[in-house]
Amino acid sequence: MNILVLGSGGREHTFAWKMAQSSRCGNLFVAPGNSGTQAIATNLNISVTDFDAIKKAVIQNNIELVVVGPEDPLVQGIHDFFLEDEALKNISVIGPQKAAAELEGSKEFAKEFMMRHNIPTAAYASFTKDNVEEGYTFLETLNAPYVLKADGLAAGKGVLILNDLSEAKAELKSMLVDAKFGDASAKVVIEEFLDGIELSCFVLTDGKDYKILPTAKDYKRIGEGDTGLNTGGMGAISPVPFATKAFLDKIENEVVKPTVEGLKKDNLPYVGFIFIGLIKVGDEPKVIEYNVRMGDPETEVVLPRLKTDLVEIFQAMANQTLSKISIAIDERAATTIMLVSGGYPEAYEKGKVIKGLDSVKDSIVFHAGAKYQEGQVVTFGGRVMAITSFGKTYKEAIKKSYQSIENLSFDKMYYRKDIGFDL
Ligand code: AMP
Ligand code: GLY
Repeated sequence: MNILVLGSGGREHTFAWKMAQSSRCGNLFVAPGNSGTQAIATNLNISVTDFDAIKKAVIQNNIELVVVGPEDPLVQGIHDFFLEDEALKNISVIGPQKAAAELEGSKEFAKEFMMRHNIPTAAYASFTKDNVEEGYTFLETLNAPYVLKADGLAAGKGVLILNDLSEAKAELKSMLVDAKFGDASAKVVIEEFLDGIELSCFVLTDGKDYKILPTAKDYKRIGEGDTGLNTGGMGAISPVPFATKAFLDKIENEVVKPTVEGLKKDNLPYVGFIFIGLIKVGDEPKVIEYNVRMGDPETEVVLPRLKTDLVEIFQAMANQTLSKISIAIDERAATTIMLVSGGYPEAYEKGKVIKGLDSVKDSIVFHAGAKYQEGQVVTFGGRVMAITSFGKTYKEAIKKSYQSIENLSFDKMYYRKDIGFDL
């Protein structure tokens, strides 16, 4: 079958790389894609939220399966757009409909969902500019640090963690009254701070059954020792060494099952990935967020470990026969290290020539913010490429990624040299 992947990051290169290995994969398209996808598929110069252009491309290229990478098109209702269109309604879309995409699109919606279905999470209250005074009072009842979350999508920047009460009040005002994150912070969720180590769990569902993919841990901060500004992710490891069988069973019983059951009870159709961000508090998993897509760079370590045909899995999800599939996972550990443009996540330059790509032998290079220009691969974004390796242990895998990086260079290249430091 002909397949279209929407997105342009390392995640989408990994999806394309994995599906290209399937005998079921016909012509493979990526919109808009990057230099990595261009080498294995056909890139289409279409934005992921230009639904009319996507429709045209799907019809013109006889596409039967659309895999949605990022959250924006899902939250904007791309799956509903397909279902409502006579010409598109039989095409399989991997990614939930708009109603369920609110799990990522609105923090308050996600918290209410968790409360309704008894899913462990931090205590919270939400506020708008009409009751900002009550928000200040609520903050006074909490202990530092204070966690403020813009309700809507804010490109990963909408969560603030503050140590000082007066600073927390000032930020609450700035979000609600001064629209710090625009409409996204018209409502703010204030949460109890959870103290523990983070990990992510990835679930596939067809709306009836589910399969759990390997866990992963990402490193979000720009600086070593997890310091500095938040980024999309600077590296990842799978599996997570501290996720024991007993802890994974807890996650499945206390979080995954009630989540999938909750979607059914609430009548929220869901064919796609559920990315569950967790904090391990003592021995208990608590949910900090849902995303309605795969993580990036978590995909770059989770999918390489998947031995089962990904196209077959997607077909089973679309046909609601996921229960008939068994998922095989490579026992080895996988790690990825992100190479980023100097200055990221703030201002950075583009168009730097990336050297040494042909000399990487022991790792897989997933392109992200990179494109072809006059026959050369040049930087085109903040996160430029993810260098994934396997090893018997995560330490061995990390070592391989760092050795591969020795071959690679571009002007002002930066990466964290401490991925895995906290494990
Ligand atoms: P989110 O966008 O909800 O994933 O939040 C971004 C980051 O903020 C998370 O990855 C956590 O590191 C941190 N965080 C979010 N909620 C909490 C919480 N309740 N307690 C402690 N840290 C949190
Ligand atoms: N790496 C975190 C995310 O994809 O949201």
